[in-house]
Amino acid sequence: MANIKDEKAIRNEILGSVKELYKLREENKSFIPGQTKVNYAGRVFDENEMIAVVDSALDFWLTLGAKGREFCDNFSRYLGIKQCLVTNSGSSSNLIAVSALCCKTIKNPMKPGDEVITTAMAFPTTLNPIIQNGLIPIFVDIEEDTYNIDASKIESAITGKTRAIIFAHTLGNPAEMDKIMDIARRHNLYVVEDTCDALDSIYDGKPCGTFGDFSTFSFYAAHHITMGEGGAICTNSQELYRAALSIRDWGKACFCQTGEASGNGACGHRFDFKFEGLPDGYDHKYVFSNIGYNLKPLDMQCAMGTQQLKKLPEFSKARKNNFTRLYECFKKHEDVFVLPRALPKAEPSWFAIPITIRETARFSKKDFVTYLETKLIETRMLFAGNILKQPGYKDINYRISGNLKYTDGVLYRTFFLGVYPGITKEKLDYMIESIDSFFK
Ligand SMILES: Cc1ncc(COP(=O)(O)O)c(C=O)c1O
Repeated sequence: MANIKDEKAIRNEILGSVKELYKLREENKSFIPGQTKVNYAGRVFDENEMIAVVDSALDFWLTLGAKGREFCDNFSRYLGIKQCLVTNSGSSSNLIAVSALCCKTIKNPMKPGDEVITTAMAFPTTLNPIIQNGLIPIFVDIEEDTYNIDASKIESAITGKTRAIIFAHTLGNPAEMDKIMDIARRHNLYVVEDTCDALDSIYDGKPCGTFGDFSTFSFYAAHHITMGEGGAICTNSQELYRAALSIRDWGKACFCQTGEASGNGACGHRFDFKFEGLPDGYDHKYVFSNIGYNLKPLDMQCAMGTQQLKKLPEFSKARKNNFTRLYECFKKHEDVFVLPRALPKAEPSWFAIPITIRETARFSKKDFVTYLETKLIETRMLFAGNILKQPGYKDINYRISGNLKYTDGVLYRTFFLGVYPGITKEKLDYMIESIDSFFK
């Protein structure tokens, strides 16, 4: 008993020092317009995240365990979805989603050569798992001002080989989910929602990430909530959940959770199965029914995620406010900028504000972003632009349905600015002043 008390006291002392360290660092922070960089995104946290991570480190569990379970429970409850798996990134979540839909263990798997409808205006790892699984991406254009897959163009891209629609809710702006789900249902297609940039965005009263067969999330530092690195994959289907778990955890057949005591045969049937080609009763933990990976995060990351999730409502509020102020600023210059548009049923929790420079403007994207960067205001490209123009994608097997007019527009004329909660009122004032003075 005395030892337990000692450990508690030591732990409290360490965690008390962590809190002090956080406070000290905060006191030394300041913003000087024109001298301090305005980042487009970043971690927003307080002592609670630092304490949660250090506390978990002191547990010294080191792999995935109870903190992961706690995060998954909270996250699936928040989203209103049955199953959630934590992963080490949004990219891994996308890889798991597509690979799980190709698993022979599910009733209706996709197979190499099958077609997947998607967009070429993409973050690479929304597209990559399609290629990595030997599927053929069929590219349809995006809409000019929502930057999302143009749902009106999906149906004409469908052939007898089409099996899925996979897309991201671009920069937090919900895609036209009612139309997309209707097409998917009528043509029996899987839907994967890359929700990495759209946590807490709503479409028709339902959170993004609750419509498709799978939804994926990123908790990289730039995202709505962060674990540093990390991600999640969610589904309402028990069959797909088990396939995803297998792909995340080496391709194992057993669906007991790994990295914790309950993984040690919680099902009570470790030695009860017979698989073709394997000895009778071969340990189920070492039966591999899929060709998988190891894409698990650490408990420490999940401990941080749990703290971040509590802050999501205030984070979203700040994102929306920052977006509105920047939107109003760009609106004054609508003759040269295309403003972003959300659909009537959409309530975006914006990841960033995308802006396109009109073809008729007398300056280029390069001119404008260079100007902002010299003012120490960070800008970003809308990911790959048209990914087919990227060097790594020259030799991929694909088809374009229609044309990619607006996808190309993004490549040449679109950039985005941050709206994250770390952009305080004084930073926002400085951003707006700088944008306005470009025109003086
Ligand atoms: C739409 C989209 N999908 C996937 C990812 C990949 O997430 P991660 O960086 O966690 O791998 C990102 C990254 O920002 C993204 O924006």
